[in-house]
Amino acid sequence: MHTTPHLWWQKGIVYQIYPRSFMDSNGDGIGDLNGISSRLDYLRDLGIAAIWLSPIYPSPMADFGYDIADYTDVDPIFGDLAAFDQLVEQAHARDLKLLLDLVPNHTSDEHAWFKEARSSRNNPKRDWYIWRDPKPDGGLPNNWQAAFGGTVWEFDPPTGQYYLHTFHIKQPDLNWRNPQVREAMYAMMRFWLDRGVDGFRIDVLPVLIKDEAFRDNPPNPHWQPGDFYWNKMLKIYSENRPEVHEIVQEMRQLAEEYPERVLIGETYLPYPELMRYYGEKLDEAHLPFNFELILLKDWHAAAVKRIVDSYEASLPTGAWPNWVLSNHDSARLATRIGSEQARVGQMLLLTLRGTPTCYYGDELGMRNIKVPPELQFDPQGKADPALSRDPARSPMQWDSGPVAGFSTATPWLPLTDDHQVMNVASQSQDPHSMLALFRRLTELRRTLPALAVGEYAAVETNSTQVFGYLREHAGQKVLVLLNFGAASQSVRLTTLAGEGQILCSTLMDGAKVIDLAQAQLRPHEGLVIQL
Ligand code: NOJ
Repeated sequence: MHTTPHLWWQKGIVYQIYPRSFMDSNGDGIGDLNGISSRLDYLRDLGIAAIWLSPIYPSPMADFGYDIADYTDVDPIFGDLAAFDQLVEQAHARDLKLLLDLVPNHTSDEHAWFKEARSSRNNPKRDWYIWRDPKPDGGLPNNWQAAFGGTVWEFDPPTGQYYLHTFHIKQPDLNWRNPQVREAMYAMMRFWLDRGVDGFRIDVLPVLIKDEAFRDNPPNPHWQPGDFYWNKMLKIYSENRPEVHEIVQEMRQLAEEYPERVLIGETYLPYPELMRYYGEKLDEAHLPFNFELILLKDWHAAAVKRIVDSYEASLPTGAWPNWVLSNHDSARLATRIGSEQARVGQMLLLTLRGTPTCYYGDELGMRNIKVPPELQFDPQGKADPALSRDPARSPMQWDSGPVAGFSTATPWLPLTDDHQVMNVASQSQDPHSMLALFRRLTELRRTLPALAVGEYAAVETNSTQVFGYLREHAGQKVLVLLNFGAASQSVRLTTLAGEGQILCSTLMDGAKVIDLAQAQLRPHEGLVIQL
């Protein structure tokens, strides 16, 4: 049990914005900071606590901003530092926190540091990146594979060495064993914290430091054709090395110099490994992202319950949980599990114990778009069209105007086919809409301490289609029942009796009293019930 009061990042909801796609203020078809500022009232009314912006820094956009050419400025596509300062101020005025994406593993090859580093073997910045000689037979330094396909090694003919890029050729990895690199990155973190940002989502945290001897990765015996090609090897030497924890501790110490800042780590790891990113003394990331619900392929009650229970059981004492259902790297929730189950998923996300992270547009139930080959932007999609992330990055749909209120120009990616109805304006008029459901759930989470900070306990039911759990705080008890199936369910709750008050149904058709001895759930229905 926590005795200290909960902080904003424990009680509140994080909302991810992909800046290219949220709101275009200057008519170039690409979203920008002033656009986000103009939509802050919408975000406040959603009932979220914090906005996380995917990268906004100057970038050649080989990986849409995750290739940074200057860590302490804003790309002109998105605006400038003045627009950023205004956004921070206006967000704070609405009691919204603002988090930036920190990309410490790699820069763009167009960053001044890399230009210097590649200029000669003797350049003082040479060692800021990872350079290796060819093998004596002229071959690659080792067998490591890059996330976007092929080897991690790119040969640089003028200097006769390879540089390492875990992602795109235009994203050379920094050498975190070099103390000057660490100092430069920490100075950059201070630059933004001093400007008022409330924390960072830290990109590919486990990848920051590599095996000192650059040993070959072994093959993954579980890999099958059709699985993500990057998982063909067990990346035991190229990521999640023990030395990474020292870096995360240093970042945490820095964040602690400022009040109530949060560090969220991008950590795709199995639970035992993931938990280590909280730190042995809870002195590393506040929230190492928990991605199991994104990775889950078979969306059904038992599988979700297994994930939730195993996560709860794995959390170190005092570590704060978190949940993510989708992001800019995965298919949209409604595309993965269907529009009806997306409502159940949203209820799950917003009623589980731990900080939820929502992806823009999911509050409407937006689905993936179809991206014609000539509009394929994502480097991962260029490596394998089936893995393109563009379909989940389409513009936010605000109204039923020609460009959905996102822009006055042709948007950089197409809108969804149903944008005339799938938009904020029309869903705001509809009391049964996904948006109405989302707002109701955030309202409940804000007003009921049991949902915001209460304990979690699974509840036994007689139905294999239903996942049920109790959230409880200071005598307040809230029961959540989620029907993962397409048939009605009559649920007997062996451990509960009496009546409950329905606070919210995913079908948004009004509160009623429910008999806990025989709880009726309609197809794809989720209920939040006060006991
Ligand atoms: C993870 C980010 O979420 C993804 O979009 C990006 O391509 C890679 N890291 C590389 O920065």
